[in-house]
Amino acid sequence: MKGIGWKKRLVCLLLALFVLSWGGGCRRNENQQTSMNKMSVEESHFGILPEGEVKVYSLRNGQGQKVVISSYGATLMRWIVPDKEGRMEDVLLGFNDLSGYTGNHPYFGSLVGRYANRIAGGSFPLAGETYTLARNNGPNALHGGPGGFHRKLWDAQVIKGEESVGVLLKRLSPDGEEGYPGNLQVEVVYRFNQAGELSISYTATTDRPTPVNLTNHAYFNLKGEGKGDILEHYLRIYAERFTPVDSTLIPLEDHRQVEGTPFDFRNWHAIGERVNAEEEQIIRGKGYDHNFVLNNQDTGLFLAAQVWEPVSGRLLEVRTTQPGMQFYCGNFLDGKLTGKRGKSYEKRSGFCLETQHFPDSPNHPTFPSTVLRPGDVFRSQTIYTLKTSEKRP
Ligand code: BGC
Repeated sequence: MKGIGWKKRLVCLLLALFVLSWGGGCRRNENQQTSMNKMSVEESHFGILPEGEVKVYSLRNGQGQKVVISSYGATLMRWIVPDKEGRMEDVLLGFNDLSGYTGNHPYFGSLVGRYANRIAGGSFPLAGETYTLARNNGPNALHGGPGGFHRKLWDAQVIKGEESVGVLLKRLSPDGEEGYPGNLQVEVVYRFNQAGELSISYTATTDRPTPVNLTNHAYFNLKGEGKGDILEHYLRIYAERFTPVDSTLIPLEDHRQVEGTPFDFRNWHAIGERVNAEEEQIIRGKGYDHNFVLNNQDTGLFLAAQVWEPVSGRLLEVRTTQPGMQFYCGNFLDGKLTGKRGKSYEKRSGFCLETQHFPDSPNHPTFPSTVLRPGDVFRSQTIYTLKTSEKRP
């Protein structure tokens, strides 16, 4: 009798434990569910450099998307986003470790400055003086020089708002850095919201006149990084004109109409459709590597481009306040770099839509000026949006 009593008690105890843990499990799931639906920012350690600790900031938009930004290079490292069936992928090329970013790489997700794109011969005149920069791209200066903004550690601060979460990154670029004049105070704010909009806002002030051209150099592959090339992505660019270049990719004097050329993306075209065309400009760029003169300038934020990938249904939209956009389709990627999922990044395994001023503006008086003067504030904003669409919109 006594033995049976104990057994019964044991069974009851086990049952009670099971019910309690099941209830707890439900509550945990509910909690997870609520936190899934909440926007959040999480700061974590990424590595140590002689300049200090590198942090990463994970921004969740409460709708299943996550963006990761690092204070090294103010880099956009990851954007994890569902496809039309809800399957998640990271759609940005990049590395898992800090050593990938401190090593040689073609600006994966970097904030590029002080002057994004090329400056012919690595020199420019300003206020009666000629300034000389490092030539890090054949005869030209590219993307702020070898020690440009992509190689710097930025001060970072979390931002929590009602409508979005984000991170503010700042640094002082000292007078003479990489050959540029003036102490330039730069701030960039990344903000991410429930609509899958990632806004990047830049501001800068200076104590001497200096050229300023800032962009983000993220490489997208809407199938997922390391999942092949981007040739079957469809692209639309809201531009009537593009900027033809010489053999070193420096702009020629006049913009050219896109009509009748492989640069006409006013209606949807697959990136691969004309990327190998026997056309002088395509041959010079080894594919697309050109500035597009965006329509609707001076109207605040406007739609510059859309990219749609048919298998995943992912759709990227780019809005900007900038007059130009460099469309680069990864022509110089050559398989030597290995990315986050262990796959090598081959030619055209990612594309960039770099919103900016026109290349080499400091040497082209007819282009909109990029000179920032003391007392003025440089401001620009670009919003990348990721969502899904069954059909090409
Ligand atoms: C340039 C390319 C260059 C790439 C990586 C792009 O913005 O237009 O010519 O190869 O950046 O540096």
